[in-house]
Amino acid sequence: MIRSAVRGVGSALPRRVMKNAEFEKFIDTSDEWIVQRTGIQQRHIAGDDETTASLGEEAARKALDAAGMTPDDIDLIILATSTPNNTFPATAVEIQKRLGMTHGFAFDMQAVCSGFVYAISTADMYLRSGQARRAIVIGAETFSRILDWEDRTTCVLFGDGAGAVILEAQEGEGTVEDTGILASCMRSDGSHKEKLYVDGGVSTTGTIGHLRMEGREVFKHAVGMITDVIENVFDQTGLSADDLKWFVPHQANKRIIDASARKLGIAEEKVVITVNLHGNTSAASVPLALSHAVADGRIQKGDLVLLEAMGGGFTWGAVLLRW
Ligand code: ACO
Repeated sequence: MIRSAVRGVGSALPRRVMKNAEFEKFIDTSDEWIVQRTGIQQRHIAGDDETTASLGEEAARKALDAAGMTPDDIDLIILATSTPNNTFPATAVEIQKRLGMTHGFAFDMQAVCSGFVYAISTADMYLRSGQARRAIVIGAETFSRILDWEDRTTCVLFGDGAGAVILEAQEGEGTVEDTGILASCMRSDGSHKEKLYVDGGVSTTGTIGHLRMEGREVFKHAVGMITDVIENVFDQTGLSADDLKWFVPHQANKRIIDASARKLGIAEEKVVITVNLHGNTSAASVPLALSHAVADGRIQKGDLVLLEAMGGGFTWGAVLLRW
């Protein structure tokens, strides 16, 4: 049985770090409010020369280096993003060009904050079906470009960045001891659109628009939705929270992460947290957190790792894998 194994991971962050205190200069907020409600202390904000494509390319190159591979080895690129460089072509194809690749295929996926878990489970299907052998799966965002910087209820929450993983098809035994992706579960429900959306678009207003969110409503649904898909991947594999080595959730809000881990019985020391450093980087948050926990030596070969995300749509999903 073919499994999609992780061979390398990389990340990229814009040069500029914006601390919470900076917001106090132009909106009615405080470092204390932001830290207490969200756990966020700072975020990175892209400069004019930093784009979703440039951050995605940098993360992809670092992941390739970590895997000991070159772009020649890759035949598929999937980029999860809601902030593409252009409406078209897909920013994944721009990254393909930047990597000097004219072979293989590349496309974008749009599931907002769940984009990376959607993208990695899609890449897994291409690899398991034999249509590709090695994939770069990237989450990259420049959400700072779609924020309303006068709206204190949203602008303090988000940041820019990118993360990438290299997946390779390899033969497994078909047991939960195999290295690679063991199970995934994706969900969406468009009836929640008004709770989290961008109020512009090519086919409606012809503008880029700004992110709008009913934060309390999102919070109310988040924990239930997250635990639902996680219980599904545990059911598929016969594994449980006790078997986990690391829980790498979407980094939107420390309170949502803590509440989900508590509900699932996942011990606090197994939870990877980066929201304090990066804010909510949407589709980039899970691979950024993965990259962080690999770089500091926490995630090791053979570890059982659970990824989870929930975002606009609503969309939500979970992926269980052995590193
Ligand atoms: N600074 C100071 N006060 C603020 C700020 C701010 N930045 N933002 C809001 N407030 C005020 C509100 O105006 C309100 O004041 P009022 O009581 O006078 O009306 C008060 O704080 C409480 O506001 P709430 O919205 O009820 O605060 P809450 O405790 O719910 O925290 C938050 C807000 C942090 C947004 C929370 O609801 C949350 O995290 N929601 C989930 C958001 C999320 O996770 N999104 C993820 C998906 S992202 C994606 O898919 C792109």
